[in-house]
Amino acid sequence: MPKNPLKHLYSREALNAQPSAIRDICALVARPQVRSLAGGWPDPAKFPIKEIRRIFDDLMVKHGDQMLQYGSTEGLEDLREVLAERMKAEGQNDAAPENLIITHGSAQGMHLAAQVFIDREDVVIVGLPTYFGGPGAVHSRGGKVVGVPVDRDGLNPNRLVQDIKHLKAAGKRVKGVYVIPNFQNPTGVTLSLERRRQLVHLAETHDLVIFEDDPYADLRFEGKHLPSLKSMDRKGRVIHLRSLSKTFVPGVRLGWAVGESGAIRQMVVAKQFSDAATNTPAQYILLEFIRQGLLDKQIQENINFYRAKRDFMIEQMDRHFPREATWNRPRGGFFIFVELPNNMDAGELFRRAVDKNVAFVTGQPFFVDGSGHNTFRLSYSQVGEDDMAAAIQIIGNLIKDSLAGR
Ligand SMILES: Cc1ncc(COP(=O)(O)O)c(C=O)c1O
Repeated sequence: MPKNPLKHLYSREALNAQPSAIRDICALVARPQVRSLAGGWPDPAKFPIKEIRRIFDDLMVKHGDQMLQYGSTEGLEDLREVLAERMKAEGQNDAAPENLIITHGSAQGMHLAAQVFIDREDVVIVGLPTYFGGPGAVHSRGGKVVGVPVDRDGLNPNRLVQDIKHLKAAGKRVKGVYVIPNFQNPTGVTLSLERRRQLVHLAETHDLVIFEDDPYADLRFEGKHLPSLKSMDRKGRVIHLRSLSKTFVPGVRLGWAVGESGAIRQMVVAKQFSDAATNTPAQYILLEFIRQGLLDKQIQENINFYRAKRDFMIEQMDRHFPREATWNRPRGGFFIFVELPNNMDAGELFRRAVDKNVAFVTGQPFFVDGSGHNTFRLSYSQVGEDDMAAAIQIIGNLIKDSLAGR
């Protein structure tokens, strides 16, 4: 049979879809001997396996019939209530079960939001660099993304305004902004308070939706929590996306979205034809985990655990990286972003590192305009101290070799 015999029947979006280069890199380096600082996966050492097992067993005895049944598309009502209360406690005063949908991860939240808001050729502004989930969801609808630089205070709103004006003048329909406000993937940067206000204001003046993708919100190691864009949103412009992957476990694929109730209703309709409902046992387990006070405990433990890992990685980088390489100190999340001198190529560094069984993710796939050749992302989330120390030393030596023209 010829390869792809049905290709002529594929949709335009499917023909244009590209696999994520980052997932490809992670798959490439999944060999057990590779010391990988590539994937942004949580460390399984922190998974609450015993508690989940105990809760699951109890629930099966008491509520096995409900728990194994289909659930409502918007998600378990009791769980939506509990999550809405948590959002209120964070300053989202309008959060209520009616404007909250439980999703299969924040990834599905973004996908549903794109289904509701994005038509072919619509433009969404994203960070340069940014995590691929936002652009991927927009592309899956035939939409386009345009990048705006992310600096040490996050996405730059002044550049955003300029771009919106240029795009509108060129006849484009700019629909929204995709932003990761806390400890952004891949840069680890947090959007400043002032810029959060500016962005919400811009959404009102330029008639935009903000897709606020906030999976790292609960993983702040130090400093004050900043209000979400959603909590500043008086006009229903923000779709706030959350994840339990980094605070509970990623394998259950749980997240939620909060937004204006009409938009959330539309997301529910889109979800009905996608997967009908989010995994019911996972929702019951999470609800019980929260009710027993275990989620808050787990979040605090994760904060301490990943803070120590961040500190350790930075210590190693200070020791082994030459001063020509620069990086940030993230105040939460999983990522450190490294910039090399402009004449260096992180792709070449990556190939040399893989030869030595060390991996990271090159920065370029995170730049929707193809720039960022001299950058790379390191993740401290998954790897233990010994491997981290060895990997950082190897990368540091390779950078020094490259600087010396070796
Ligand atoms: C910014 C960002 N959004 C979304 C996700 C996916 O989250 P989830 O597992 O909830 O789908 C990730 C995961 O790495 C992420 O970094």
